[in-house]
Amino acid sequence: MPTILGISGSPRKGATDFAVREALSEAEKIPGIETIYWTVRGKKIGYCVHCDACIRNKSMCIIQDDLQELEALILKADGFIIGSPVYDMNVSAQLAAVFNRLRPMYLVHPGYLQNKVGAALSTGGTRHGGQEMTNLAIINYYLMHEMLVSGGLGGCYNGGTVWTKDNKVDGVREDTTGYDTIKRLGLGVAEAVMLTTHGREAWEAMKKELSLFSDDKSPIRDH
Ligand SMILES: Cc1cc2nc3c(=O)[nH]c(=O)nc-3n(C[C@H](O)[C@H](O)[C@H](O)COP(=O)(O)O)c2cc1C
Repeated sequence: MPTILGISGSPRKGATDFAVREALSEAEKIPGIETIYWTVRGKKIGYCVHCDACIRNKSMCIIQDDLQELEALILKADGFIIGSPVYDMNVSAQLAAVFNRLRPMYLVHPGYLQNKVGAALSTGGTRHGGQEMTNLAIINYYLMHEMLVSGGLGGCYNGGTVWTKDNKVDGVREDTTGYDTIKRLGLGVAEAVMLTTHGREAWEAMKKELSLFSDDKSPIRDH
């Protein structure tokens, strides 16, 4: 079953938790789509200290905490909806730590994320408080991992953007325009996941006939 993993980068049960779940509920309206939800809330997540053990050992991060459970979920996912509260016009520190700690994904699971679909949403207390910038930080993470990006259907621009007035779930509900981008994001990702999941098998067969692509999925990152 095509699976979408939703991740909330908020340390509390508020707007982002709700928005990511709502986007997933919308995606589930497409028959055949399954969803999984994971949040940084209440999790022990250490910082990357740039020890480079992951690079030397070609292993996931050696810090033992709650991040290991996320690796397993990522490996089940065909699509991603990552949401963050806007902190200083950027993603939360918790989400940044998650991204940093997943650095070796490309070494441990080469090509795994390539051409998987990702989408971003953010909730900010102020109307123009950096939602688009926050989405961009998430989108850049997808691009770094050679993923495809969905911005949602019908003019959501770079993803879900909500103005919460710092009012948690009520803030999302009251921002009807922003709430709508969340729903259209969920549907857009679900459609893109259906297309890519079903198209992948056909393409892999065609690709074998071409000499353009190497079987070696190890990325070229020594530049
Ligand atoms: C440390 C910190 C920095 C923040 N910076 C911004 C900001 O730059 N722009 C903004 O619009 N809101 C900012 N906010 C407000 C939150 O983004 C907003 O309340 C958000 O909806 C919280 O999401 P949550 O309920 O999921 O935690 C900040 C909040 C905190 C705690």
